[in-house]
This record gives sequence, C-alpha cells and structure tokens, in this order.
Amino acid sequence: MSREITITIDDKKIRTVEGKILLWVALANDIYIPHLCAIEGKDLPEASCRLCFVEIEGKNKPVTSCTQPVYDGMVVRTRTAKVDRLVKTAFELLLSDHRLGCASCPKNRNCELQRIAKERKLKLRHTRFKYLGRETAVDDSPDSFSFDPSRCVLCGQCIWADHEKAKVGAIGFARRGLGRTVATFNYESLKDSPCTECGLCVEACPVGALSFKKNT
Ligand code: FES
Repeated sequence: MSREITITIDDKKIRTVEGKILLWVALANDIYIPHLCAIEGKDLPEASCRLCFVEIEGKNKPVTSCTQPVYDGMVVRTRTAKVDRLVKTAFELLLSDHRLGCASCPKNRNCELQRIAKERKLKLRHTRFKYLGRETAVDDSPDSFSFDPSRCVLCGQCIWADHEKAKVGAIGFARRGLGRTVATFNYESLKDSPCTECGLCVEACPVGALSFKKNT
C-alpha cells in the first residue's frame, strides 16, 4: 500500500507518496528542475541528458532527480553551487551538438532549451565546447512534418511516442557515441518507413528537430 510521506524541496514542505520519482513530485509542486529525457510512466529512465541534478541531504554527490524515488524526511536542494555547475556543463555539452539559430527555428519561443536557458540563466550559444557541426540531412519526405537531426537533442521523447503511444515503431536510436542519431530502420526516408504521420512524435519533441509543416 502506498504510504503518505513528507519531503522538503527548497524549503517547501510537500506531502506525497513514498516511491514516486522526485522529478515529477517537484514539477507537480511548481518547482522547476531542467529535464529533457525523462518520460513519466517509463520504467527504466534513460537519465542521459544529465540536466536534472539535485542535492539531497545526507548524500555526498548530486543525483539525477529523474531516477530518484522519494522517501520520508528527504530534504532536497535544486540550486547549489555543485548542481548549478553540473547542469551548466550538461547544457553546454548538449549545445555543442545542437545547431542554434533560434530566429529561424520552428520551435522558437516554445523550446525546452530556451526555457532551461532562461530558468537557469545560461547562455544559449556555443561557449566552452565548440560546435561539432555534424553534416546531417533534413528529412522532408513526410507530407505533414520534417525532421532536422541537427536540432535533435537525443532525448528519446519522439521514440517513446512512436513506440508506446502510436504503437508504430518507425524510428529508433541508431549508432553509438558522437554518431548517435534518431533514424528509421535502414535509414530509409520517413515516407518509405512504416510512419503513419500521426504527429505524436512531433508533438513530443521538446525542441525544433521535429516540426509540422506550415500548412499542417
Ligand atoms: Fe534526468 Fe535527463 S531528465 S537525466
């Protein structure tokens, strides 16, 4: 049976249920923690974006809030020098493989990267880490949307929507390391893949990688 507990996040006392994931508890209580790859309801979190770090009293290292279950008496800080440093580095690394140019991006003003930059006062430009500038072709083949891998942050939200909501399985992660990308089987165009153009993956994309065409 689920047990009611009390935790504290940034001095705010919160009643919740033991075992819930800290990130979702914080967000449900209007405490913002940056996050890209976390998906509510997914059993095994990717924990790949490394943006959701927090510090917990009694633990000697910051932890990712998307993997941390809550327990009674837990005391959490979302903003400490260590957390801010980790989040800044993760954000800068992410940008090193993200083509900027917000003015011409379809998600301008509705982009999770812009939100994180604003909330954490981070620069939305390539600073410490040089832009990798990988050559990636835009897949413009679907009638209703296009996919620009150079704006993809590899959060996996589109893949989850495609597999778990649409139950199609047209896309997945391909390759490892710096070459990692979202792709169709055999790298065929989306038009030639089993994609049904339901649009759920486009709605799930938190940045400008998947975007509806103007007439859609
Ligand atoms: Fe926790 Fe990405 S949201 S690591």
